[in-house]
Amino acid sequence: MLIDSHAHLDDRRFDIDRKKIIKNMENDGIEIILHPGADMTSSVKAVNTAEKHKNIYAAVGFHPHSAKEMDEDSLQIIKSLAKKEKVIAIGEIGLDYHYDNSPRDIQRKWFIEQIRLAKELKLPFIVHDREAHGDILKILKEEQYEGMKGIIHCYSGSYEMAVEFIKLGFMISIAGPVTFKNARRVKEVVKKIPLENLLIETDSPYLAPEPKRGRRNEPAYVRYVASEIAEIKDISFEKVAEATSENFIKFFNL
Ligand code: NI
Repeated sequence: MLIDSHAHLDDRRFDIDRKKIIKNMENDGIEIILHPGADMTSSVKAVNTAEKHKNIYAAVGFHPHSAKEMDEDSLQIIKSLAKKEKVIAIGEIGLDYHYDNSPRDIQRKWFIEQIRLAKELKLPFIVHDREAHGDILKILKEEQYEGMKGIIHCYSGSYEMAVEFIKLGFMISIAGPVTFKNARRVKEVVKKIPLENLLIETDSPYLAPEPKRGRRNEPAYVRYVASEIAEIKDISFEKVAEATSENFIKFFNL
C-alpha cells in the first residue's frame, strides 16, 4: 500500500469523479491521502473531506499564491480549523518566486506567521518552495524552534539543500517530476538521500508522472513515483512502498 502525502482533491478537475476516486482508494493501492489546503475555501473543503473519510487527512493553510488574501482574521480561522481532529499539519505554506502571484514581502510575512502558528499548535507544516530555495532555508533557520518538523513538498532543490532541510527536521517529498527524463537533479537527490527521509506524493491534479504526463494527475499515479524511486535506488517497489508509508505514519504519529 502507498501513501499520497499531497493531493488537492478539492480541485474542480475532480468534480466529475471525486467520489469514485475516494471510493476506489483501496483498490488502487492507496492507504492514506493527505489533502492540503491552499486558501480558506480549500482548507474548509480539506477538513470536510477528511472528516467524512477515515483514510483521508487534512492540512490547512494559505499557499503563497493566496498570501495576498490573508489577514489576521483568516489566520484565526485557520487556527480554529487546525484544531480539528483530522487536521495533521499546517499547509501548504511557503514561497513561490516563479509565479509571484502575491508580492514577495507578503508571501514571506504569511509564511512566517503560519510557521509560528504551527509552532503554537505543535503541528508539522508543509512547505511549497518554487524557485525560492534560499529564502525558504533562511526563514526556516531564523524561525527554527525545538520540535520543528515538516515536509518539503514536491522537492525540486539540490542534494546539498535537502541535507540542510533534513537537519532542520524535514522530510523530502518526491512527486511526479522525478519520472521526467530531464529531472537529473531530483533523481540525484533520490539516489543519495536515505529512504527513511523520503515521502511520496502526486500533488494531483498537477504534475502527472510519466507515463501519464500531460494528463490530469490523480492519487493512484503515486505508484509511478514509487517505481521510479525503486529503479533509481535499485531496490524493490515493495520496499519503497513499505518504507515511505512507514515514514509517513511515524512522522505524523498515526
Ligand atoms: Ni500542492
